[in-house]
Amino acid sequence: MVSFELTKNVYWVGTVDWNLRDFHGYETRRGGTYNSYLIIDDKSALIDTVKYTFSNELVKKIKELINPENIDYVIINHVEIDHSSALPEIMDYLKNAEIIATRNGRIGLIKHYGENWEIKTVKTEDELRLGKKTLKFIEAPMLHWPDSMFTFLVEDKILMPNDAFGQHLASSQRFDDEFDQSILMDEAAKYYANILMPFASIIIKKIDELSMLGIKPRMIAPSHGLIWRSNPERIINSYLEWSKGITENKVVIVYDTMWGSTEKMAYAISDALAKHKIDVHMFHLRKSDLSEVVKEILDAKAVIIGSPTKNRLMFPTISGFLTYITGLKPKGKIWSSFGSYGWGGGAVKGINQILNDSGFELLEPSLDVRYVPNEEDLQKCREFGGRIAETIK
Ligand code: FEO
Repeated sequence: MVSFELTKNVYWVGTVDWNLRDFHGYETRRGGTYNSYLIIDDKSALIDTVKYTFSNELVKKIKELINPENIDYVIINHVEIDHSSALPEIMDYLKNAEIIATRNGRIGLIKHYGENWEIKTVKTEDELRLGKKTLKFIEAPMLHWPDSMFTFLVEDKILMPNDAFGQHLASSQRFDDEFDQSILMDEAAKYYANILMPFASIIIKKIDELSMLGIKPRMIAPSHGLIWRSNPERIINSYLEWSKGITENKVVIVYDTMWGSTEKMAYAISDALAKHKIDVHMFHLRKSDLSEVVKEILDAKAVIIGSPTKNRLMFPTISGFLTYITGLKPKGKIWSSFGSYGWGGGAVKGINQILNDSGFELLEPSLDVRYVPNEEDLQKCREFGGRIAETIK
């Protein structure tokens, strides 16, 4: 991909990673991008870099626009390796550039790359005048690391919030209005659910803070995926909805099964929910993309977890799922569990213990069936599904 001008003298110089399929465990079936932006003015600034494997591509794009030695600043909005790891290589070319980060950003950069560079620190409302254009910085701790920062290009009204408002989505298009809207919003929701969901209350406050600072972006240029040009309010409003835990008439059933008993229960529960006109999304965990499961949980009213008992415990995929989902802290849902066992049982008890310990709202009693569910057991499953449907109505 070649560089691209967003607005006069503001360029996308990022890279498209068409083959990205695993982003530290997040399944990225549509690939991804690392967005870096170059602003050319009396003083010039590079906003974020890219993953180290694409350093050469970044340098090449910069060289096509400006002598790298004429870049005065590198703004590091976020230290995570996908945005900063090209630094060691590109700083050999950007010989006169000063690095700018938050205080925590400076600490993070030193811990990642050593004390190789001068790093100036900035805080919220600090400004950097480039010439005709001005950068304003807004610290955004825990969105999603302590070092995170947003950079606002004042005159052009372009917000560069790094990870916030991003999507893991490789494309030849750069702007939201050039792309399929349902895929775009689906990937934005998946990104929010898997990366930003634990920080919902911070997001609500940060959006409020932007408004109090008078920052009303005309364009939001995140560090991953497409740039929100047509209606930046749309993604801001979606973030507010997701962060407030607004849900749909929807239930997610997540299960694993050894010899099909737990799966039979899952289907019976699902049938009962569907009969009540509930939108059901069901996932066999060993056959599903966990990041996709989490996306569906984002706006679900209830999550039902099913597991067989193995060695007195829940199935390993279920414990992995619970570790992941409890860390993400989804808001405003009802949780319940079911399972099958041969003799002692233990899976359902273990699931409920974790849900309780995590402060999730648990709907009991759960459902436990010995060996293979017979018609009577399946009827109990349907009643169980019906009870969940009534509870969330
Ligand atoms: Fe895209 Fe937190 O890195």
